[in-house]
Amino acid sequence: MRTVKILADAEALAIEAAELIVRVAADSRKQRGRFTIALAGGSTPERTYAVLADAQNAGRIDWGTTYVFQSDERDVPADDPRSNFGLSQRALLSHVPIPASNVFPMIGEPGNVATSAERYAALLRDFFGGLPRFDLIVLGMGDDGHTASLFPGHPTVVERELWVVSSPPGALPPPVDRLTFTLPLINAAHNVLMLVSGEHKSDTVADIIEHVSLPPLLPASGVNPSVGTVFWFLDQAAASRLNPAAIPFTKEWPELDRFEDPGVTE
Ligand code: 6PG
Repeated sequence: MRTVKILADAEALAIEAAELIVRVAADSRKQRGRFTIALAGGSTPERTYAVLADAQNAGRIDWGTTYVFQSDERDVPADDPRSNFGLSQRALLSHVPIPASNVFPMIGEPGNVATSAERYAALLRDFFGGLPRFDLIVLGMGDDGHTASLFPGHPTVVERELWVVSSPPGALPPPVDRLTFTLPLINAAHNVLMLVSGEHKSDTVADIIEHVSLPPLLPASGVNPSVGTVFWFLDQAAASRLNPAAIPFTKEWPELDRFEDPGVTE
């Protein structure tokens, strides 16, 4: 299922996204006793993580039963400013009481993305005991329609078997090798949250949401969980080329209503 929510601006988008994460966390914990989330890199998710880490929100998640993974990573050390894990640590993980053993960075040692991909897939298999069904996978989208590190026209976009693959640099910076979840893994999730902000992404957003596109050309269009929900959170700038009459979006979010307010405190 795909639903779209349009927020006034990037800040409103981050606040609403943090709210969704809190609610999915509570719902997952209630249904499955834990919350498994894969985080994305990029500037749009970064603000969401900061909102999630603030005093109002951090206490609403039970971090002891939260398990954090990554949906993609650049082949750099964690202390490199380009590291997605470093970003998640700075913006979120270093501010909340999550046990270190609940956090699973994608890259142990930089320099061999193929081995790192195999290791991460094995780690996921052990943790989930089969095909991972994440409670929530957070993703961003680039101007060119890439998501995670699945770049337009690259064979990784049509991968059908593997869950985690290595990927050469895309057209957008930084020009480093990557590791990425594949579409079969993403589409097995209970929920996917796609965070998109900015006018420069509006044409691609319209292409994906209004038309049927082929995933190899616009990888983000291949994000369609088989039994889960993809939440497209857009700010008005990113949504500015959408024809409201042509898309099945909801201004209010009916799915949120089925979650009880968690009010979790540690
Ligand atoms: C990465 C990301 C990537 C990102 C998009 C959007 O490692 O580069 O995971 O998929 O989410 O490029 O990034 P922005 O939000 O910064 O535009």
